[in-house]
Order: sequence, then structure tokens, then C-alpha cells
Amino acid sequence: MCGIMGYIGAKETQKVLTKGLGKLEYRGYDSIGIALHDGTALQYNKTEGRLQDLEEKLEQEPLTGSVGIGHTRWATHGKPSDENSHPHMDAKKEFAVVHNGIIENYLEIKRDLEEAGYTFVSETDTEVISHLFSRLYDGDMVSTIQKVVDRLEGAYALGVVSQHDPDNLYAVREASPLIIGAGDGEALISSDIPALLEHTRDIYILEDGEMAILSEENVKLLETNTGKEVSRDLFTVDWDMEQAEKNGFDHFMLKEIFEQPTALQKTMTGRLDENAKRVDFDELNWTDVQISQWNKITIVACGTAYHAGLIGKHVIEEMTRIPVDVEVASEFRYRRPIVDENTLVIVVSQSGETADTLAALRQSQHLGANVLAITNVVGSSIAREADEVILTMAGPEIAVASTKAYTTQVLSFYLLGIYLAQSKKSVSQEYREKLIDTLSHIPEQIEEILDHSKGIRYYSESIKDAKSVFFIGRGLDYAVSLEGSLKLKEISYIHSEAYAAGELKHGTLALIEEGTPMVSLITQDEVSEKMLANIKEVKARGAKVLGIAEEGNLDIWEYVDETCFIPQTLSLVTPLLNVIPLQLIAYYTSLALGNDVDKPRNLAKSVTVE
Ligand code: F6R
Repeated sequence: MCGIMGYIGAKETQKVLTKGLGKLEYRGYDSIGIALHDGTALQYNKTEGRLQDLEEKLEQEPLTGSVGIGHTRWATHGKPSDENSHPHMDAKKEFAVVHNGIIENYLEIKRDLEEAGYTFVSETDTEVISHLFSRLYDGDMVSTIQKVVDRLEGAYALGVVSQHDPDNLYAVREASPLIIGAGDGEALISSDIPALLEHTRDIYILEDGEMAILSEENVKLLETNTGKEVSRDLFTVDWDMEQAEKNGFDHFMLKEIFEQPTALQKTMTGRLDENAKRVDFDELNWTDVQISQWNKITIVACGTAYHAGLIGKHVIEEMTRIPVDVEVASEFRYRRPIVDENTLVIVVSQSGETADTLAALRQSQHLGANVLAITNVVGSSIAREADEVILTMAGPEIAVASTKAYTTQVLSFYLLGIYLAQSKKSVSQEYREKLIDTLSHIPEQIEEILDHSKGIRYYSESIKDAKSVFFIGRGLDYAVSLEGSLKLKEISYIHSEAYAAGELKHGTLALIEEGTPMVSLITQDEVSEKMLANIKEVKARGAKVLGIAEEGNLDIWEYVDETCFIPQTLSLVTPLLNVIPLQLIAYYTSLALGNDVDKPRNLAKSVTVE
């Protein structure tokens, strides 16, 4: 999704902007640009392509000035092109605007402006904003912003620099994330924290309906509608840049896969008490009475977070016997979901900004449900709007393909399941203790898998030319297969499907031919015999099977072509382990194909539009 960067201060603005945009590359983009006020006029440089393309252009025509804005664009209205790239200017070049989000009524505004004689040079919705500034400017930037915003419907985060007021940088937020960095003699705006860390750790999170005026001396937050000043506490970022850099790994994705033992440990710390054999969530404010009133739990999320929710369903149902539905947020929000004050809705989102998940959260609250968010980003829209929040402690996840966020989400569901079971007394103390003990060993067991991952690399290289790769499993293994398949397709671009193994006979077997790679998860004790029967079926049709099973399950040798063993654990907890080889298969296959592993085509890290 688009990324915004803005700077005012004494440093070299062009460099601050391009470096900051580099830190936002992970969000996915197809074009990039910056605009600076050079003390006399607004100047810009923008291009279709990547940061390097912009830097090459800037080498020929560098921009100077002490205030500027920049943008990485992920095309929504109009193809990727130089003209459609941001910043957008009005005809008189008095206003430069960068925008993240979608202006829903832009066609109507465009028609009005065209009738009034304004001409457009791009196909974007954003360009209407720069012309609106020009048309509505009344000598005062705050009241002009109010007039402009009054015309806009939709989601937007804006960065604006004006020829009339080059000593200030303006930011506006409505339903699209934007943060402000308050430095010493400088101030910045950005779509995400990593882009600011080199300059400051002191951050204001701009809320919907607010604008900010940034100068070298200070940052002022205002309610956009009224212009009334808002007081807001500074939020100090406590993780460092090192965590957001590659740290010697070739790709962020690989680094993040290897960070999972630490991320899981951090997510457990302070919550899972091994001595008392309890789970405590100090951050949750529920009472036992409230918990006892929920007759249904609904989990809503998108993509990988949805897959974590599928594990959550198994775990919570097992631990509490409360029925749990899991739904994709983009479906949930457009039907009439059966959710009320006796429902707990759990929204899961790494970024905390996914538009559909946020909409599902709001809809659920409107229907009277209590909403718990499981999210990785403090201060994100979802974290702020949910009634209760469990933060996954994954740290910044930069690769588009989610890995450590997924496992920390899954772990949060185990912790939550135990927590709810403590309150409802729905499982025996002995079982809870066993589960707590098992979870506490997961980080070291993941280390073990990572230490022996060479075989997975060879396997991945062997499937890189496959037309299709299938993943099968039963129960929790099926839920993990869905995640393995998504991971593979998003970064290797190989067609892939995941199937509940018992469903194969109902259609999918027709697709199996000589040599079709089939990744089979066989870690659910209760159905492992059934899985072996399914593997026989696919082998008989020529599939080449990789079996993923627990150490000691030597029976599988005679059924599969290749094996990958994971350490033994409880059947309920295997998802935390058996997803690791699947993440590695996706990574190494993508690598073998020479793809851009961290920034797969057509995808963005944070999906802030529907
Ligand atoms: C896949 C992936 C996506 C996200 C999805 C939701 O690897 O990362 O499927 O899981 O876009 O994003 P969040 O969790 O930020 O709401």
C-alpha cells in the first residue's frame, strides 16, 4: 500500500525523504516521488518504478529545500506511470499533495473542477485534492484544509506543502494511518515507524478527524473540523532500528522466520507463568461473569491472519466448548452477521490497519459485541478501536509474506484458550498444566527445526518448476496446509492449493498427475491412519509426496518419497511447529526462482483499502 514521508528541518531533505521511502518499500509500490520547497518555489521529481529509478533522476536534477513530502504509490486509480505518481500539484504549482487511501467521490469533484476550467494531468483520485486546494485557498492553510476535507469522502492520509506557507508542513488523517515524528529542530510525517527511527523515537499518532501542523520548532495537532488544538501524549518507540534491518540475512523473510523463537518467547513472557501453571493477561479487563455470558465467538481476519484464526477456532473450542466461527473480513462486513452482546468477536491483524478487518471490528461493536484485537502494532487503528487488545510481540514484520506475525497470532490463541478455560473451568488443571509446559518448549523446538533446514532447501529447489503444488492435511494440519499453500503462491507464483485430505476424492484427485508435488502433513495422531490412506491414493496417481511428521513416526517412510520431521509435541500444538518447514519451502522456492522474496509482485504489506 502507498507510503507517505514528510520532513521539515535542517537536514538534507531530499536524502531524508528518499531514505524514509526506502524504509516504506516493504509496503509494496509501483511508483515513487518527492516534492520540496526550495525557498522560492515547489519542485518535484517522480517516476514509475522503484526508489533506484527516482534516485537516478535526482542525481541529474537534485532537489533542495528544508521542507518536503514523498510517496510510494501502489496503483488503485490509474496505471503505474510518471503522471499518476505522487506528489500531485495544482496547475499553478502552489500546493503539493501526497495521499494514501481512496477518495470515493473523486469523479464528482473532478467533474465540478473540470467545469470550472481545471485541467487534469493524471488519472488519479488524488489530483482532485491539489486542485481543490488551489480553488479553495483563502489565505489560511487551516481553514483551507477544512474546506478541502469537507468535500472529500473516503479514506485519506495527506501530506501537504504549500507555496504560501513553506515554513510549515501539513498532515491530515481520515481512516488511513499517519504518524508524526517530533525531533529536535525537525519534524516528520510517515506511514510507519521504521521510516522515522533514524531521526526520532518520539511519535504522535494522528487520529481520524485530525490534522497536524509541523514546523522546525514544534508539532501542533488539531481537530480538523473545529481547528481546536488537541493534546496528545508522545509515544516513545522502544525497539531499535536493528530489529527493522536485515541483520546479516539475505532477506527480511528469512530473518523473520529465524526470529520466531524469540518472538514467541516475547509473546509468552509475562503471560505464561510456568511456575504457577497459569496464563495471565493483565491487559484484559473481562470479568468471569462477562466471559460466562458469551455463547459464541467469531474470529474475523484476512489472509494469513485468517489462517491463524482457523487454528484459534480449534484451540478455543477444545478449551472452552464455546462454538467458534471464523470468517474472512471482506465477506463478514457485507452480510448481516449474527453477532450480538453475547458474542465475543476476535479480530486478528498484524498491521492493525487492514481496511476490511477494521470495518468488521466497527460493525461488530455496532451490533453490541465485545471486540478483542490480536495485533502486532501498538497504536494502530485496530489496536485503538478494539475493546480489548492482545499484542503479539513479533516486532516489526517487513517482508510482505507474514511469518512471525502468524506464529505469534497462533500462540496468542493458545494463551487465550487457556485463559478462558481458567475462567470457565472448562478443562482439567492437569490438561492446562500439560499445555502450558508444552508451549514453553516451543521456542527451542522451532530452533531445532531451523537448525536442520538444509533438506527443505533441496526439496524446494526440486519443486521450483512444478505447475502446481498441493498441500494436504486433516484437522489442524489442514488449517496449517492453507497457510503453507498461501505462502508458496504469494512469493513463488506457483499455483498451489490446500485440501482437507478427505476431500481429495471429491474432485481434486483429477488434478494429480505423474510428478505432482504433494506436501502432506501427518501430525494429528487421531487421523494419522486416515492420512496415510490418503497419501496412498495420491501416490497411486503419480504424486511425489513430502511427508511432514513428528520424529519417531517411522511408519511414514514406506508411504512418502521424502520426509521432514518436526519435534514431538501435543497434537493440539503442532501448528506452531509444522508451519516452519512450510514457510521455508515457500522462501527457498521463491529464492530458487530468482523472485523478489520480500516484495512479491502485485502485493502490499498493509492493505489499507478494501
Ligand atoms: C500473507 C499476508 C497477508 C496478510 C493479510 C492481513 O503472507 O501477510 O495475507 O495476512 O493481508 O494483514 P493484517 O494481518 O495486517 O491484517
